[in-house]
Amino acid sequence: MPKVLILKGEELEVLLKPELLVNEIAQAFKAFSEGKTITPPRTVMWVEGNWWGIMQSHVPGYGVGVKIVNIVRENVKRGLPTIQAIVNLFDPVTGSPLAVMEGGVLTALRTAAASAVSAKYMTPKEPGALAIIGTGYQARYQLKFVSAFFKPTEVRIFDLREDAMKKFREYAEGLGFKVVTCSSSSEAIDGARVIIEASTTDTPVVYGNYLKPPVHIISIGAHTPNARALDDDVIRNAESIVVDSRDAVLKETGDIRVPIEKGIISLDNIAELGEVVAGTKPGRVGDGITIFKSVGLAIQDACAAALAYRLAKEKGVGTTVDL
Ligand SMILES: NC(=O)c1ccc[n+]([C@@H]2O[C@H](COP(=O)([O-])OP(=O)(O)OC[C@H]3O[C@@H](n4cnc5c(N)ncnc54)[C@H](O)[C@@H]3O)[C@@H](O)[C@H]2O)c1
Repeated sequence: MPKVLILKGEELEVLLKPELLVNEIAQAFKAFSEGKTITPPRTVMWVEGNWWGIMQSHVPGYGVGVKIVNIVRENVKRGLPTIQAIVNLFDPVTGSPLAVMEGGVLTALRTAAASAVSAKYMTPKEPGALAIIGTGYQARYQLKFVSAFFKPTEVRIFDLREDAMKKFREYAEGLGFKVVTCSSSSEAIDGARVIIEASTTDTPVVYGNYLKPPVHIISIGAHTPNARALDDDVIRNAESIVVDSRDAVLKETGDIRVPIEKGIISLDNIAELGEVVAGTKPGRVGDGITIFKSVGLAIQDACAAALAYRLAKEKGVGTTVDL
């Protein structure tokens, strides 16, 4: 019977340091955009009004990863995480199961790593403020990873929930950041150099008329075909829009699907992060607005899970179970 390594969220946090994960995730995106991975579109189902995804991918050199993930917004009121997941890793040659991992932490880490790759290629050189809209679970990881590539003069935050802002403020100040709590999204983004949108909104929270370029916008929310986190002006005025997957964003987020339908932008003018990493498409070329929009890809889970497995084996971390 196969021996399977179980990795907890807290073990993943220790294993997957930004300096290790970001480079590996960048390579996974490059392989994806070069057509070298096997990544079928994720299966989406709605259960009790909540989004569930089954995401599978083979990333050569890493392994086969399969994630079952859900997003339950009402969980905020239950004191449970909005996103819960399990990730399984398999050996691509033998098919044997290798590991089972807590998927909430893994998702946050790999999502933040993708944002950090975009920051590496797209943040402006000028110093300035970092605005974070939506200060829930993802926001912590986003700040930690993105600030490895952009050191903000201050971190401005806005969330609809006072308690979320209070907790995030304590967390960010603990990391040594100067934090400014804002009373609206427009106040937070006004003149910010980098904006991270990490909210569960369905309507825009980043508005074009408050931006003062150069600015790089990272948007990880709005994951359904009609949901928007960015308004039309943001999209219209962007000098560069980079996404994780053109196919996926076209189906899965209103932030790209709707402006294309309205004729504001064309899919041909949108680059993939993997193309930017490969150097075949530019990230930032001028002093304008750049956008990285992600909906999340299974390649990130497979890559992060395989890296965590490799490191855990080297360091003797985790619990092995005989299935
Ligand atoms: N792109 C990806 O790969 C990826 C991966 C994971 C999560 N996500 C997305 O990230 C988002 C955040 O997830 P999370 O786990 O941090 O959830 P969370 O519930 O922990 O935090 C979301 C926060 O957004 C706030 N919010 C909602 N509407 C807002 C508004 N209009 N203005 C300001 N704040 C608002 C909520 O109050 C909450 O504090 C979700 O949309 C999720 O789907 C994307």
